[in-house]
Amino acid sequence: MKRIHLDQAASSFPKAPGVSDAMKRFLDESGANIARGSYKAAIEAEERVFETRSLLARLFHAPDAKNVIFTGGATTALNMILRGFLHPGDHVLVSAFEHNAVMRPLTLMQKDGVIFDVIPASADGGMHLADADAFVTTQTKAIIMTHASNVTGAVMPVREAGLFSKEYGLKLIVDTAQTAGILPVDMEAFGIDALAFSGHKGLLGPQGVGGMVVTDEMASMMTPLIAGGTGSFSHLYEMPDVLPDRFEAGTLNLPGICGLEAALLFLREVHPEVFAGAQEDASLQAEGIYARETELYARLLSGIDAINEEAGKECIRVIRPQCACVPLLSIAFKDHDQGEVARQLEEKYGILTRVGLHCAPAAHHASGTFPDGTIRFSFGAFHTEEDADSAVLALHEMVIDRWKLRQD
Ligand SMILES: Cc1ncc(COP(=O)(O)O)c(C=O)c1O
Repeated sequence: MKRIHLDQAASSFPKAPGVSDAMKRFLDESGANIARGSYKAAIEAEERVFETRSLLARLFHAPDAKNVIFTGGATTALNMILRGFLHPGDHVLVSAFEHNAVMRPLTLMQKDGVIFDVIPASADGGMHLADADAFVTTQTKAIIMTHASNVTGAVMPVREAGLFSKEYGLKLIVDTAQTAGILPVDMEAFGIDALAFSGHKGLLGPQGVGGMVVTDEMASMMTPLIAGGTGSFSHLYEMPDVLPDRFEAGTLNLPGICGLEAALLFLREVHPEVFAGAQEDASLQAEGIYARETELYARLLSGIDAINEEAGKECIRVIRPQCACVPLLSIAFKDHDQGEVARQLEEKYGILTRVGLHCAPAAHHASGTFPDGTIRFSFGAFHTEEDADSAVLALHEMVIDRWKLRQD
């Protein structure tokens, strides 16, 4: 049975061509650390890291490659940003769709006197910024928001949040785990002060690598969460002031960075539109990865609509925001256990989905799917129409055929 990985929002599979080769080459032929040796392999490893940083700076329209800081993933980066930037008594605003990568650090930090308020969801399933000024106090320091919900797919109004932040003198912190590599993320045009990214989802790289991008001003306002050796300024007991060293203590995941570089080179060649700035030609997007994946999303959606129509009732509830969405679709069953449906999708049809709360209970509260959660289908760069049709056929068989059998 063919395995159909419809769980790209959790982690991409397959990875971009060249990723595993680049990782293997580094492990088999180099193994050197950066900034610690003056021999050829160390200098070559340094070049790989610099090139990857530069690609990411271009992808995110960052001020400079030095502003890109590698971490183990978006979660570590968000912890570093939140813990490095906020102090007791500070207040922040968050969207109603935050992942636990934001909610759990903030909840822990409540014990240290950090306060947060949730900006309500808008009627279209996005973020209701219009009344957000009511939450701003003299202690408010930042808006923290996901660029797109990993539960509903809804794309949040980042550009508007950037304008709002500037108006109120707040910093804008964005979690791009669900958009990087799919939609343009333009730090400069959107007015983003700090963002976190994940290397293993839309960027098609390996697990265990991601990072943050911070403006110089934001970096100057942040204390490093992790301190240690950087291979630079070794006479100092304090962390160096320069970027990226200030936030990169210890040995980086160099095989992971080599893999991410290969993935970014693939994306730049095959999907240059994800590197495009917010101001650039919209026709680039019309042909791009987002448009292709959205077609698959629409195919699955209309297949599910047809199943409900045939059943004459809403057997499958679709979580369908009315705003723009990334290509992930959450569904819920009233009369079936979601875990059992997901298990059968894998065992009988080879379709891999994510079931439950997807580490984002807040988004389920906002969507009315708490505590049961949803079954989430998410598309990636290598999916075909056949994959979307397989999901529809499987759901049809599970819902209609067996339901009919039960009626006879
Ligand atoms: C919205 C969102 N934020 C953060 C994360 C965590 O990313 P990482 O695996 O890179 O730590 C995820 C991954 O599930 C996510 O969907």
